Amino acid sequence: MAAKVLKVDPLHPDAGVIAQAAAILRAGGLVAFPTETVYGLGANALDAQAVAGIFAAKGRPASNPVIVHVEHRAAARRIVRDWPDVAERLAERFWPGPLTLVLPRHDCVPDAVTAGGPTVALRVPAHAVALAMLRACQFPIAAPSANASLELSPTRAEHVLRSLADRIDLVLDAGPTSGGLESTVLDVTTTPPRILRPGLVPHADLEALIGSVAVGLPSTTEATCARSPGQMAKHYAPRTPLERCFESRRRVDELAAQGLRVGWLTHRAEKVSHDVVQVVLPGEVTLYSAELYAALHHLDDAGLDRIVVEMPPGGEEWLAVHDRLMRAAAR
Ligand code: TXA
Ligand code: MG
Repeated sequence: MAAKVLKVDPLHPDAGVIAQAAAILRAGGLVAFPTETVYGLGANALDAQAVAGIFAAKGRPASNPVIVHVEHRAAARRIVRDWPDVAERLAERFWPGPLTLVLPRHDCVPDAVTAGGPTVALRVPAHAVALAMLRACQFPIAAPSANASLELSPTRAEHVLRSLADRIDLVLDAGPTSGGLESTVLDVTTTPPRILRPGLVPHADLEALIGSVAVGLPSTTEATCARSPGQMAKHYAPRTPLERCFESRRRVDELAAQGLRVGWLTHRAEKVSHDVVQVVLPGEVTLYSAELYAALHHLDDAGLDRIVVEMPPGGEEWLAVHDRLMRAAAR
């Protein structure tokens, strides 16, 4: 059965709509809802069967743990075994917000959430709808991005429906999300803490607060997939082959001359031949991030042979954008 879609005001969500969503979650169902990063596919995080439903709907491998959303720091502390001082400082500064902390899990967290691992990833989302749901439910909500596994993340309700319409109970449509890229995942069980997935909170902001922060996975034999499966090379990918170029203009002309239907994603407006589908994103990083997935969804739906992306600037604050584009290009 197709998911029900309910419009909801992003700043002042209607209590009746939130109550419907909470009732579905309480009964073990699946609700897609907006956060400030991307739309999440939510289930009661303390109900193993409900969480199994997330994995079934997404076609997500059971080895890839999901993020748990909580209402506030006190709720976070209830589902972890240890709450180090560094977690307190980070949470105080960045919650609600797009920072996910990996901590030792409490026994009450089902294996389905953590992929059987000893840690749980959690954050307080900075979105009135997500917070209202958490308040109404009074249990933590497990929610990976609301897309089929390995596909592009959703920043609008339409994106959710495109891949999950027949597999979930309800979508709360609050319009486009503001951040547009996923949260930064930070493992605070290690010294120094380590970024497992770059995201909307920049490395520099973390270091400014807590000092040294490592980036990326340790280059040991430790299985990359088990540590942070979001780091699998192919992820967040459109169906259309995508390539990144420094001189994308020339590449676009070359492919078009071969008779290919080409999409061009740039951050500089330039005139193109009429049969190239061009999307121009802002050259400023937060604006670019906010629109990136919507642009990729748009190009992916245009029936193209190839998507060519002009390489964004190289500064540190562009790390998460580069990370997602690299994955989108991986085959
Ligand atoms: O912005 C976001 O984080 C969005 C919104 C909905 O909150 N959620 C999201 O979830 O992107 P998901 O499941 O698509 O990505 C979760 C990432 C994955 O890379 C996963 O491997 C990692 O977090 N992760 C989850 N639990 C983990 C754990 N216990 N240890 C290490 N990595 C974990
Ligand atoms: Mg995801």
